[in-house]
Amino acid sequence: MLLPPHLSTFLLLALPSAVRAVFQDEVGHIDYHYELLGVPQRETTFFHRPRRDEKASLLYTLSDVGVLGAVHPSSGAVLWRHLLNGTLTDGGGFLRAGEGENWVAGALGKSVHAWDAVSGRNKFWVDFSGEVRDLEIMEMTENGGRKDVLALFDEEDGSSTVLRRLSGDDGSVVWEFKETTKDIPLQVSTNVEKVFVISLHGNAAAYNLKVTVLDTLSGKRLDELVIGTKGDVHSKEDVMFVGANSAAPIVAWTDNSLQKLRVNVLGLKTRQEFSLPAGAVSVEIHAPHLVQSLPHFLVHIKTASGNSADVYHVDLKTGGITKAYDLPVQRGTGAFSTSSDNANVYFTRITNEEIVLLSSTSNAAIGCWPLKEGELRSAAIYGVSEVVKKTGSGESFAVRSAVVTDTDDWVLVRKNGEIAWSRPEGMTGAVAAAFAEIPENEDLVKTLEQEAHSNILAAYIHRVNRHINDLKYLPAYLNSIPSRLTSSILGTEVSFKDGKLARDSFGFHKLVILATRRGMFYGLDVGNKGKVLWSNRAFDIAKGDKWNVTGIHIDESAGETTVLGSNKDHVVFKTETGKIVDAKAPEAQVSTRSAALVNTLSGQVLLAVGLDGEISSPPADWTPGQTVVTRGLGGELKGVTFVAADGAKLSPLVTWTFPVPQGQKTVSIATRPAHDSVASIGRVLGDRSVKYKYLNPNALVLAAVDDAALTLTVYLLDTVTGQILYSSKYEGVDAGKPIECAMSENWFMCSFFGQYGVRDDPDQIVKGYQIAVSDMYESDQPNERGPLDDSDSYSPLDPLDVPGAGGASTLPSVVSQTYVLGAPISALQVTQTRQGISARQLLAYLPDMHGIVGLPRMLLEPRRPVGRDVTPAEMEEGLIKYHPVIEIDPKSVLSHERDVLGVEKIITSPAVVESTSLLFAYGVDVFGTRVAPSFLFDILGKGFNKVTLIGTVLALSAGVFALGPMVRRKQIDTRWNAPM
Ligand SMILES: *[C@@H]1O[C@H](CO)[C@@H](O)[C@H](O)[C@H]1NC(C)=O
Ligand SMILES: *[C@@H]1O[C@H](CO)[C@@H](O)[C@H](O)[C@H]1NC(C)=O
Repeated sequence: MLLPPHLSTFLLLALPSAVRAVFQDEVGHIDYHYELLGVPQRETTFFHRPRRDEKASLLYTLSDVGVLGAVHPSSGAVLWRHLLNGTLTDGGGFLRAGEGENWVAGALGKSVHAWDAVSGRNKFWVDFSGEVRDLEIMEMTENGGRKDVLALFDEEDGSSTVLRRLSGDDGSVVWEFKETTKDIPLQVSTNVEKVFVISLHGNAAAYNLKVTVLDTLSGKRLDELVIGTKGDVHSKEDVMFVGANSAAPIVAWTDNSLQKLRVNVLGLKTRQEFSLPAGAVSVEIHAPHLVQSLPHFLVHIKTASGNSADVYHVDLKTGGITKAYDLPVQRGTGAFSTSSDNANVYFTRITNEEIVLLSSTSNAAIGCWPLKEGELRSAAIYGVSEVVKKTGSGESFAVRSAVVTDTDDWVLVRKNGEIAWSRPEGMTGAVAAAFAEIPENEDLVKTLEQEAHSNILAAYIHRVNRHINDLKYLPAYLNSIPSRLTSSILGTEVSFKDGKLARDSFGFHKLVILATRRGMFYGLDVGNKGKVLWSNRAFDIAKGDKWNVTGIHIDESAGETTVLGSNKDHVVFKTETGKIVDAKAPEAQVSTRSAALVNTLSGQVLLAVGLDGEISSPPADWTPGQTVVTRGLGGELKGVTFVAADGAKLSPLVTWTFPVPQGQKTVSIATRPAHDSVASIGRVLGDRSVKYKYLNPNALVLAAVDDAALTLTVYLLDTVTGQILYSSKYEGVDAGKPIECAMSENWFMCSFFGQYGVRDDPDQIVKGYQIAVSDMYESDQPNERGPLDDSDSYSPLDPLDVPGAGGASTLPSVVSQTYVLGAPISALQVTQTRQGISARQLLAYLPDMHGIVGLPRMLLEPRRPVGRDVTPAEMEEGLIKYHPVIEIDPKSVLSHERDVLGVEKIITSPAVVESTSLLFAYGVDVFGTRVAPSFLFDILGKGFNKVTLIGTVLALSAGVFALGPMVRRKQIDTRWNAPM
């Protein structure tokens, strides 16, 4: 994908075999990858046989984040998948498969598409102007077996309903039915003869159902039926089911208070009413989707404490509906699914204890399999099942069910009650993540705190006692030395100590805390291939809503993590186990825009920032050590400091305001990372002079676009004074494409889509993805530190009085350069290492190539000489001649050939060893690896043969021991024998 295939093979073959081996060796050893789909939705998940003649079926789903994919039901491996919208979506969409067809049809937003069911290759993709409301496949058509797609659209902002019949071959429109009404199109359904469009007719919370009957061949209106009385239906959500493709498709809805269920057999004018048990909180209908199946359906009723079900039969001749049988109430929510095998219809009931298989004709279970104790970690909430009737002696059935649990896992339960696989699909849609150190022994932390709070003498005695006490661990420690030695020689990593998580000496072993929009949080063990250590639900988030996490703070000493939300909600849990210590559920109102992590006298704390940028008065011992920058309602930036008000409280004081200029809109803000060690304050040039870096910890980069003028302005602000330190403008920028900035050390960069001139041809303007890099120095001249030269401290609030230059003299000298990128990048991040000695890399996601790239900082150097060859002095500095285009080198793709989908954000953390930075990416997939921007200069590679090294040293020592006396004797002999 990155190179023409023949070229990359050629390059690979040209590499010495050892180099190839290193790559192979690293993949899967230092990195880990969860290939995810998102949580499957109830209506868009099914088993389907992609080849008519073969028994094997696959599982298809269109998930709640907008990934369409196929999964192997026996292994849980992903066969193919596509992120339909390019970015994560908030549920919705449609997915259908025609019986016996080798393709599946999907729809999302304004597009309808079809995909090869085995390979996932696109068959067609058509876009329309409205939004798709429903999709069905016409099982029976006139043209010799070609199945067509029916797509229902809401167009012209809800003022017209359009139904299109699209050819199953290429998506071309066979016919179109359009109606201009204020009715709300709901669903489309079909039986052998007719097509039905179901819409809501009426206005403002008092609707009834309208069924428009169309001719399958021409799409002409045959009839229009209005069912029930006005006020039967209050909202779209009341209509719970519209069957399709069955011999007698039905539409079912409930009244507002869930007391009555009303059912209409499509095509008839009458509706039938059934009463629901008291206390029903939700009702679902399950019915077969095959024309040849018996017209039976099941109503699943949930109450606060349990669930039950009723099975109904439809009489094909009269359209009468009768209740056939009911199923007893059971604890919990339970999950039902329907499967059909020609005429037979089966219902599968899954509870926490068992799987029960029923036929639609009788309430006697035809199979019941207990689930293995504790197999299903959490309750199944919905699922799909495949029932296979085995031929042979007697009647026997095989059932497997793919269920979604209330902890957002997707689990395949086999008939024997075993879990075949479990996919942590809930990790998609993550909204925040942070690295955490593995908590140290809690007792030690407590003891240390105790020592800190007592007087010096007592603390000293306490400490000596503690060390004496520690001696009892000495024998165990001595005992462990041989195993540690062998593990270090063999390169196996110790990740557990006494069954507990333990840190390692390289600092690779950390945790990642991940919070998702569905209200779950996860703890991943980075040192152990990203294994999910625990997961827990913070809050129940309603469908369509999301948990808006504004900040995560990990308190290393207490071993606790705090997650702050936007609706005055928070949750505090143990970092090591995920056990919730304290939680407050979200309120109805959004009140927090973001959270600021500030350093205070009592450690780091998260301050909630309100919608208009205000901060409520924090307690006095939370005095932030820095100015907090917030954003007001008008988009302006404000610098807030705190002054002591009434003893116990602090009151916020706005010290400066930066109004983003008229017409401009802030698109990205970047600051230096919290951990941004700088090893050297200057850069040594080829001629041994030094350019001093402008290292302002309070600098902030703000990118603002002007939609009308198509410009991007990048401002560098001082967050203490609000002063603009530098700004630059880029023309012809497309504000619709992502713009992102990153900052580290003494440089910052922004990526955007804009125009640039071609040097040899001033008239030619080309558009492309660009990255603008700027370096900040203290002065234009090498060996000069500008006005800051002799001062050992400096305050931007109190500028130095340099004659002739005024306060502005402390502005940085900025060197900038723009590069054109071969591919768009997003999720910018910079590597972090412990001391900042290693070079830095710009990390980014490649949305087109589904990979994560590490661009060496040297490549993006703004000082690369333009239009001339490098001088020997520059070469010594490592500079290369400027070339405007940076192609993505496959060797710099850190995810190698893995297909990493939908990355929204990348986070980094330093390891203990200087060479390495840890990387973690999330969005749809979860991916992590280690990055060594200056190579592994402080670690021996896995391929390094320590045994040989030790063997050689031993052999040499033995040689020295053996040969030493001989040599000495020989020397003495020579002296004696020497002629006088
Ligand atoms: C993705 O969704 C957004 C919002 O619904 C829409 O504007 C955009 O056109 C969609 N993109 C694609 C490629 O479908
Ligand atoms: C998340 O934010 C949206 C508005 O942006 C709000 O409507 C919703 O209530 C918030 N959700 C939660 C759970 O806080």
